[in-house]
Amino acid sequence: MSEEIEWWEYDDRSEMAAAVAGDIGFIIESAIDARGAAVIALAGGSTPVPIYEKLAASKLDWKRVTIIPGDERIVPLGDPLSNVTHLAKTFLPKGARVLPIVPNAAADYKVAGRSADALMQDLHWPLDLCLLGVGTDGHTASIFPGPDHDEAVNGPKERRALGVMPDPMPIEAPVPRVTLSLTAITGAKSLVIAVTGQDKRTVIETAIKQGISSPYPIGRVLARTELPVDIHWAPA
Ligand code: 6PG
Repeated sequence: MSEEIEWWEYDDRSEMAAAVAGDIGFIIESAIDARGAAVIALAGGSTPVPIYEKLAASKLDWKRVTIIPGDERIVPLGDPLSNVTHLAKTFLPKGARVLPIVPNAAADYKVAGRSADALMQDLHWPLDLCLLGVGTDGHTASIFPGPDHDEAVNGPKERRALGVMPDPMPIEAPVPRVTLSLTAITGAKSLVIAVTGQDKRTVIETAIKQGISSPYPIGRVLARTELPVDIHWAPA
């Protein structure tokens, strides 16, 4: 269980975006100072978009930064649902290395997961940062309720990514996914969560109370990580 879960509250999304972008920039700089490179996993979805815009405006040694999506929808590159496509548009022009974890939308989602896991073996682990969003159903990254939930949460420790068939399918992106595993997420050197709205806050507060037996994936993440976790929150 993380000993320190700290809530950081903001008046609005823009103020939160500036603060979280500053924190991520500091984590990147610290990693570059320490070992000459930074590897970070960034959340998909809509909440972090203003964060990424402000982060991309930061003066960082971007050529030393590798970015992967913390999870990916299994759709072709360039598809509006593709997380890495949005990250590439924002950070490739800065000179960062943005790596797709599902380079081609494999027909079989489990094959896509195994190929993502193989791709990731070449990265430097643990991640310097994992930025997470949370759904109102308590999912995080693409750890969703469904037939693959147990593998995502309790799979072999060396498993860093896997294919997931959410059940029920999330309305906003009703496609199979590849996600970082719980182990890969909770092994990151820094774990940062950015959410807006009271519904998500209530889900996270409930998940924290439930601890390791939480039915919410975000609850399992918070119960499993040993790290201090910053949860950044702004009203919707
Ligand atoms: C994804 C995300 C996912 C996201 C939450 C919240 O691929 O959909 O990684 O975990 O962070 O669904 O999404 P919003 O920020 O759009 O509410």
